[in-house]
Amino acid sequence: MAEFPAPAGTNKMAVGTGPVVQLSGVRKAYHTGTAIETEVLHGIDLSLQPGEFCAVMGPSGSGKSTLLNLVGLLDRPTAGSLRLFDTETTGLDDHALTRLRGHHIGFVFQYHHLITAFSVLENVMMPMLGAAGFPDAAMQQRASALIASVGLSQWQNQPAGKLSGGQQQRVAIARALAMNPALVLADEPTGNLDTKSADDVFALLQDVNREHGTTVLFVTHNPTLAARCPRTIHVIDGRVIEE
Ligand SMILES: Nc1ncnc2c1ncn2[C@@H]1O[C@H](COP(=O)(O)OP(=O)(O)OP(=O)(O)O)[C@@H](O)[C@H]1O
Ligand SMILES: [Mg+2]
Repeated sequence: MAEFPAPAGTNKMAVGTGPVVQLSGVRKAYHTGTAIETEVLHGIDLSLQPGEFCAVMGPSGSGKSTLLNLVGLLDRPTAGSLRLFDTETTGLDDHALTRLRGHHIGFVFQYHHLITAFSVLENVMMPMLGAAGFPDAAMQQRASALIASVGLSQWQNQPAGKLSGGQQQRVAIARALAMNPALVLADEPTGNLDTKSADDVFALLQDVNREHGTTVLFVTHNPTLAARCPRTIHVIDGRVIEE
């Protein structure tokens, strides 16, 4: 993976040197339209150190995406403590959560959520548009370097919709890295891909982890890929079981 300049103001050291993620007694219940609450996560304790690469496995409906959504500050726990980069997040307002998420967390989903009519370059620049301190030229330069690092330079100015599923997922990884995040959350990023594309996408995540020390939480139903991760946790019926 090629070197690319880090954006100003996103130095990983600025976010602390303790655990990147620390959950204690985290519970999540959903209201489902009636007075009845359904608890999906039942007291999760989980700690991820800087630079860890951790697979998350477990049956469909066990709570993996719910867990990632909480760690990614896309949703709030019902109870418990959720610390990211040494900051307790449960008391923060939406503005603070958005800021923390935007600057330090990159997401890769099963469905890439690219804007298919926009160019590859525009898609990768998207997370930088909302952040202060990016002159246009620096944004383009960084986005181009990221696109090169996922091997798609020749597609840079093409609409994202023209690319294959595997290529689009590589663009999604480049976009997730736009802000040089300390933490990448990948929810079944290889779920829709053929074996070769899945291997390529997984290798890219490994590169990011090794070369940038990025902490990666990787949800997968693929035991072969999980076996290549240094650590695997299992989410079973809303509880985390360490392998
Ligand atoms: N917004 C929501 N409102 C109500 N229930 C929800 C909501 N999101 C998830 N759930 C429920 O929480 C449980 C866990 O869902 P989750 O999506 O976390 O599972 P998962 O482990 O990611 O499954 P899969 O492997 O199929 O992606 C399921 O029973 C689901 O129906
Ligand atoms: Mg899921």
